[in-house]
Amino acid sequence: MSNTIPSTSVAVIEKVNKPDFIFDPSIRREHAEKYRTSEWYDGRGEIRAVEDGRSFQISATFTLQSEVKLVNGVLDPSNPVLAEIYKSRGRCIAVVDHTVDELYKEPLENYFKQNDIPLKTFVCRAWESDKNPDTVHKILQFLGKDGCDVSRNEPVLIIGGGVLSDVAGLACSLQHRRTPYVMIGTSVVAAIDAGPSPRTCTNGNFFKNGIGAYHPPVMTIVDRSFFSTLPKGHIRNGMAEIIKMAVTDDRVLFELLEEYGQRLVETHFANFNADDELVKVADEVIYRALYSYMKHEGTNMFETYQDRPHAYGHTWSPRFEPVVKLMHGHAVSVGMSLGATLALEMGWITKNERDRIVALCSSMGLSVYHEIIEDTELMLQAQKNIRRKRGSGLWAPLPTGIGSCSFAGEVPPDLLISAVEEHKHLCADFPDQGKGEEMYLSDLGLE
Ligand SMILES: NC(=O)c1ccc[n+]([C@@H]2O[C@H](COP(=O)([O-])OP(=O)(O)OC[C@H]3O[C@@H](n4cnc5c(N)ncnc54)[C@H](O)[C@@H]3O)[C@@H](O)[C@H]2O)c1
Repeated sequence: MSNTIPSTSVAVIEKVNKPDFIFDPSIRREHAEKYRTSEWYDGRGEIRAVEDGRSFQISATFTLQSEVKLVNGVLDPSNPVLAEIYKSRGRCIAVVDHTVDELYKEPLENYFKQNDIPLKTFVCRAWESDKNPDTVHKILQFLGKDGCDVSRNEPVLIIGGGVLSDVAGLACSLQHRRTPYVMIGTSVVAAIDAGPSPRTCTNGNFFKNGIGAYHPPVMTIVDRSFFSTLPKGHIRNGMAEIIKMAVTDDRVLFELLEEYGQRLVETHFANFNADDELVKVADEVIYRALYSYMKHEGTNMFETYQDRPHAYGHTWSPRFEPVVKLMHGHAVSVGMSLGATLALEMGWITKNERDRIVALCSSMGLSVYHEIIEDTELMLQAQKNIRRKRGSGLWAPLPTGIGSCSFAGEVPPDLLISAVEEHKHLCADFPDQGKGEEMYLSDLGLE
């Protein structure tokens, strides 16, 4: 990890009425190293006094560093990646998904023991139904004064799926207002999407991910060997997020998925019964998906722009996903498939391209249709909600071909209704009318 950091805040006083207000910015620059808080974050600002002597204006920018690393065998004691981060800090404070803890407790503890680094873990059940402020609060108790008293420059280690990365990432954003974290995404979704994402959150009432903060990990470690223990339904679920980047940004990735996607699902990304070729393809698919995602997400960390291809499939689904309790990837896949039909109706893609997109989703066992999209009131409400969130400009990513997309500004109700009709008609010929395999959440957490 690079330790370089630019100089610190700069104050510019253009006009002041009282000379004793003048702040010399060179003082800050001189002491930048001495007073530095964090090796990952930098903040700069300008202050300008206004001639009236009664007001001044401030502008500030914030810089962060975030690294994404593909690593093989991160818990092998001889692998230096984690030791290099935690050795000098004298300990590692970790938040670990409960299932991951059951499966990897021994290798995790052994790694830190062999590297002579004290490890303290908080094991957290992180079902979708646990994605709520209470869970964030529990993690904060572990991190805070009554728990490990994590310093504001001590990266917490988070190990788990997308639910944990969202809630524990949010807890880190709240601890000391911003505490860094290192993310090991152990599900496909967390490895290639939720893990490196800056969008930490919990669910709000009937609107997913409604409450949160922009706080990306300082390092994301992706080790596909974790997928060996992931149930196949979750491998499939993660494929949806890879397809979304393939459709909107990377034609080569799309073609790789058309050729190898089903084998990647069957072999848990080349963890079982895989030849050298499939191992290479698995690494390439993960790398391309991550690169494509971070090319857009990582350069727009605070969502200050709405040209976000990775929101493809996520326009209507945040409203219907929790209602019918679909797994996230299946909900996204329904959203992508409907979006492809909508793009066809709008003349943005050809019928052949639409058919390839829907066929690819379906070939992975993902849902491409769910009757919930026939609930016009709910779908229009979804549009209204998402427009309010994203702004009224160009807000809905839709494909313009295989590997490219653009953004729709207006989807009139009539167009949406006719796209749903057309999509229903298309999917009637699919096995089971486009229903996916194991598409519903199994952890409803009703106990
Ligand atoms: N912040 C973002 O940008 C973003 C992006 C995509 C998805 N998400 C969120 O991510 C969540 C979905 O993530 P997910 O699919 O990882 O779900 P998840 O976190 O619920 O993990 C799926 C299941 O797999 C288990 N698991 C995780 N790793 C395992 C492993 N290696 N072996 C065996 N079991 C393992 C978990 O305990 C869980 O039961 C949703 O809540 C979604 O909203 C967020």
